[in-house]
Amino acid sequence: MVGKIGDAMKIAVLPGDGIGPEIISQAVKVLGFFGLKESLAYSSIGGAGYDEFKDPLPDVTLKLALEADAVLLGAVGGWQYDELPREMRPERGLLRIRQALNLFANLRPALMFPELVAASSLKPEIVSDLDIMIIRELTGDIYFGEPRGISKNEKGELEGFNTMRYSESEIKRISHVAFKTASKRSKKLCSVDKANVLESTELWRKVISEVASEYPDVELSHMYVDNAAMQLVSEPKQFDVIVTGNIFGDILSDEASMLTGSIGMLPSASLDQNNKGMYEPSHGSAPDIAGKDIANPLATILSLSMMFKYTFNDNDKAERIENAVRNVLSKGFRTKDIFSENMLLIGCEEMGDKIIEELENV
Ligand code: IPM
Ligand code: MG
Repeated sequence: MVGKIGDAMKIAVLPGDGIGPEIISQAVKVLGFFGLKESLAYSSIGGAGYDEFKDPLPDVTLKLALEADAVLLGAVGGWQYDELPREMRPERGLLRIRQALNLFANLRPALMFPELVAASSLKPEIVSDLDIMIIRELTGDIYFGEPRGISKNEKGELEGFNTMRYSESEIKRISHVAFKTASKRSKKLCSVDKANVLESTELWRKVISEVASEYPDVELSHMYVDNAAMQLVSEPKQFDVIVTGNIFGDILSDEASMLTGSIGMLPSASLDQNNKGMYEPSHGSAPDIAGKDIANPLATILSLSMMFKYTFNDNDKAERIENAVRNVLSKGFRTKDIFSENMLLIGCEEMGDKIIEELENV
């Protein structure tokens, strides 16, 4: 545990690209409300890092993030960087910071706010009261496995290749996070793999089953990823905590986010062994709507709630932020992505202001 927030605490703020800066500005209003303006230090990442320093994870940014107690990140990516060499692309900045900070545990809650049931594309009875926590391993798997590359094979034909791999220790440490999380919730843990085909996940299943003996109060089940993708949309409420590897978690967490109406609502926390964390919305940089003041800042603001909860052990502030979001929604305020008939359409800035107004009352 990193401990209680105090004057000496430092939060690295990395707005990034696209809608990153505008959603981060709203989150910064919230940090300002709690008197933490002095704790913030800004730096660039992703395309912004490339523009400023020709590096998607500039040294200054990495240094700041390593020294900070927590990192708040907006989003990275943009079409103007798509043709750059892979190492220079914004996404590389994100993957490198996750690896450098050893943020192996990615927590992505999919929580249905009752006011937003109508915004989901699924029937209300399927998604109302939905509350799933997806735990995605974040520093291993095919994302980082070597060898990787594009080269000519024996036939002289170009071939792209990646390596899916998981070591026992990597599986163990994420398993412990998953069991601990499950034991604080409904004590049900579903591990998602493709053990019928892939050896790396055959080992995953074996190791997590062994770790299970240390958590007798948690009921562990296993599911193949293709089935899990189907079950998530047919009967999502059967799940409470899901744990899975990096690539499956990437895909399933996007799928789960849509159950709740909008990916614009979903926060995330990426934690190391000591609960130092990087907090970011689950969504991307949405360059198509950047600078138009229509982005939804709530996922970023809810990421702050996770920051207070996991890194600063301050459940009071975490709950106040969540309650402020609930109140703003119940008063009918909506950004475009979660708008439905008879609601009050507001922009990104105004959503930030509404949250601050509510924070005075909760
Ligand atoms: C995510 C994103 C990233 C990932 C991309 C931007 C590299 O999709 O955080 O889910 O694949 O991990
Ligand atoms: Mg993703």
